[in-house]
Amino acid sequence: MKAVALKRYLPISEPESLLDVELPDPKPEGRELLVRVQAVSVNPVDTKVRSPKDKVEASPRVLGWDAAGVVEGVGPGVTHFKVGDAVFYAGSLTRPGCDSELHLVDERIVGRKPGSLDFAQAAALPLTAITAHEALFDRCAIDVGGRHAGRTLLIINGAGGVGSIAIQLAKLAGLRVIATSSRPESQQWCRDMGADHVINHREEIPRQLKELGIAEVDYLFNTVNTAAYWDVMVEVIKPFGRIVSIVETEEPLKLGALMRKSVSFSWELMFTRPMFQTADMEEQHRILTQVAEWLDAGRLKSTLRERLSPISAANLRAAHAKLESGKMVGKLVLEGWR
Ligand SMILES: NC(=O)c1ccc[n+]([C@@H]2O[C@H](COP(=O)([O-])OP(=O)(O)OC[C@H]3O[C@@H](n4cnc5c(N)ncnc54)[C@H](OP(=O)(O)O)[C@@H]3O)[C@@H](O)[C@H]2O)c1
Repeated sequence: MKAVALKRYLPISEPESLLDVELPDPKPEGRELLVRVQAVSVNPVDTKVRSPKDKVEASPRVLGWDAAGVVEGVGPGVTHFKVGDAVFYAGSLTRPGCDSELHLVDERIVGRKPGSLDFAQAAALPLTAITAHEALFDRCAIDVGGRHAGRTLLIINGAGGVGSIAIQLAKLAGLRVIATSSRPESQQWCRDMGADHVINHREEIPRQLKELGIAEVDYLFNTVNTAAYWDVMVEVIKPFGRIVSIVETEEPLKLGALMRKSVSFSWELMFTRPMFQTADMEEQHRILTQVAEWLDAGRLKSTLRERLSPISAANLRAAHAKLESGKMVGKLVLEGWR
């Protein structure tokens, strides 16, 4: 099968940072699906895994954790899907990624592809939708059924891949959403995704919130930099509020600063369930199935903004370079094989 892979960890400007390769076709076992990949998206996790270091892989390493495709084979333990089903999924960080024509994935973290979307529109969503769903509805315990409607959520970085779908999921739960972005293009995108208010993270956040008549927010979702926004988060969160972050940091965080307000802080990592094979790992199948239903019902829309074709090393290098610029708005998807 065709695949895009790395052997060495190089700056993306190097032609050898990602290579077109041929690899043996994999075979499904247990609860695995063999998927013929039609479209893949890129996420910052790809560039973080690929970041330059002195390490050489003995065999090509395939990246990519967002795919849509068609089931071509099933392991003996598979119960949710059959050959011919169209699916979308993110996969597991501890297994080879999906930048390959054929890919193995555990059915417990796969959803059926929304029928109303094409493969590229579907591939834009799984990783970010699982992340935002788990962050808002599990970590922050926001009731998707509307019990918390009218409460306020501040999303720091609203126009990125995660922010784009988080805005929509929060609106579905009836929240009042304030998203941050700093350019006319990214600010307009936040509004298109449904944000009630857009403020600029390059300017003072507390002041801008006050100008909106919002002194403090009930929930805060940090999708860009945990340490850099820590003091601001402590300042603008309400007593008993909840803060969730998806961005790792090596810096110590002043957790004690949250005690006066009895605020909860949570990490969210969407790979935790597949990485640790948790007992509730199948929740990600349920989340993707629910997201597909909302998409088909017109309650959510795809966050796809840009398409590249075909799926090749050259196009994936261009996609990684764009991610590394820190200016991605919505999602970029690659479709079709070279
Ligand atoms: N833990 C998890 O499970 C998980 C899952 C997915 C992603 N992540 C992490 O979450 C982060 C975001 O991912 P993503 O895919 O949403 O990102 P993305 O699409 O690359 O985000 C791009 C956006 O970042 C904004 N931005 C750049 N610098 C900023 C700053 N200093 N403050 C606020 N916003 C800034 C830009 O907006 P403007 O141009 O308007 O400034 C741009 O539109 C990454 O670090 C990723 O690794 C974690």
